[in-house]
Amino acid sequence: MTKNKLKIISICSELDPFAKTGGMADVARSLPKSLKKLGHFVRVVAPLYSQIDKVKHKLKLIKENIPLKIDKSKTVSINIWQGFLMENLPIYFIEEKNILSYQYSKENRPQELYIGVHDAQRFYIFDLATIELLKILDIKPDIIQCHDWQTGLIPYLLKNNYKADTHFINTAIVYTIHNLTYQMGINWWEIPLDKRESGLGELPLFTSKDLLKNVNFAKRAIRNTDIINTVSEKYSEEIMTKKFGNELHAVLKYKKDGVFGIINGIDYSDWNPSTDPGLECQYDFDSLSGKTKNKLYLQKFLNLTEEVKIPIISWTSRLTEQKGIELIKEIIEPILRMNVQLVILGEGAKQYEEYFRKLSKKHPKKIAAMFDFDNQKETMILAGADIFLLPSRFEPCGLAQMKSLRYGTIPVVHAVGGLVDTIIDFNPKTNKGNGFVFTRYDSRDLLIAITRAVENHKHRDTWLRLVRKAMQQSFSWEIPAQKYVLLFKKAIRNHQNI
Ligand code: GLC
Repeated sequence: MTKNKLKIISICSELDPFAKTGGMADVARSLPKSLKKLGHFVRVVAPLYSQIDKVKHKLKLIKENIPLKIDKSKTVSINIWQGFLMENLPIYFIEEKNILSYQYSKENRPQELYIGVHDAQRFYIFDLATIELLKILDIKPDIIQCHDWQTGLIPYLLKNNYKADTHFINTAIVYTIHNLTYQMGINWWEIPLDKRESGLGELPLFTSKDLLKNVNFAKRAIRNTDIINTVSEKYSEEIMTKKFGNELHAVLKYKKDGVFGIINGIDYSDWNPSTDPGLECQYDFDSLSGKTKNKLYLQKFLNLTEEVKIPIISWTSRLTEQKGIELIKEIIEPILRMNVQLVILGEGAKQYEEYFRKLSKKHPKKIAAMFDFDNQKETMILAGADIFLLPSRFEPCGLAQMKSLRYGTIPVVHAVGGLVDTIIDFNPKTNKGNGFVFTRYDSRDLLIAITRAVENHKHRDTWLRLVRKAMQQSFSWEIPAQKYVLLFKKAIRNHQNI
């Protein structure tokens, strides 16, 4: 029988507010907190990047100069720093100065955590150090939850190199897939076919960098973990198809009885328009005039025409192809002909930043673009905007649409992945639905959805009803966290049956 209170270790390469490039950092922060609130023993392990400010975050050095033998070719030296996610929820940061925590770029932009060519070595160190850390601190977990490829060697190492180690005899592993596109430090699709590995067999020597960089961390994780889950139910089905499987669909299908989906939540104390200190005016579903004040403030702040009636369409995601920017580019002219404003906040591919920079210069009263993403700017926009765009080509979960609902900004989304699980198309006749959904990944279909949103915005009563309803919905972590506990117990049972 499984115990009621579990010992859970969550291992992640990103953790808000310490290091973040995307939504995984939010999940790595909120899920452990919710599990802790349910009474479980929870610890988090993360890399100490050079960008992380130890003083600001009050990190404390707890272990120093621990030799870590990776294999016969290499031994490195590890330090462990301790921080806290909340009371009684410590985070252990792993520092290895020469490779993992090395400052690779002079600019050292906070959002640039990954280096590409060096990342196989960096995360090999991190994964092995994490396993050793649990031994040093004498933590015998019931569950190790690994988030995405950066932690992917942990299941492999535990099931192979540590097979005979009694320390982990009762430890089950859950591998959580946030985005299957990312499988290793370099892009898997750029590796010549004959160099793509099967995910079986021993790892190359650490110092054989050219061989190590072709190791597929995600594939090794999938092959060796007790249970796999994705961050929405829909995505767990999608990744078993050729279209969304990123060449791992066959391996996943082989393990299909152990593949599950649990939709993410958002932390309702972090994302709350009635308490958000960064807003011009706090508001809730019963005080929507506050949202109007935020809208006027946003227009003023961004130098746009100050007019309540003009709908503001917003974008606050990474500027990557995944998020559907190509579709927006195709229909930018018809969008600009509408009486709307466009507000962009996103970091990412330089060519997209350049595109929106030029566009906003050309239409300063209609388009505003910012490329220095932070949570405060994000909520300032969500509070002030009316419509929110997330036309992703694929979307494992998507947190932005839940945040936008929370702030009463109505999403326009492509019916894919987690967007299917969270957004229902609005029907003004029945008042059912919480957003505008298009099903074919096509710019004309997106334009129709945007037009429908803009048309509905003209009917103030309908729109306000929609906004109120969106704000009253709950996508908190409470239920997903309970589902994770059930999943962890299943992983433990699977592990015991091996
Ligand atoms: C990744 C996915 C996104 C998901 C997030 C958190 O960034 O692309 O869909 O919401 O991880 O799980």
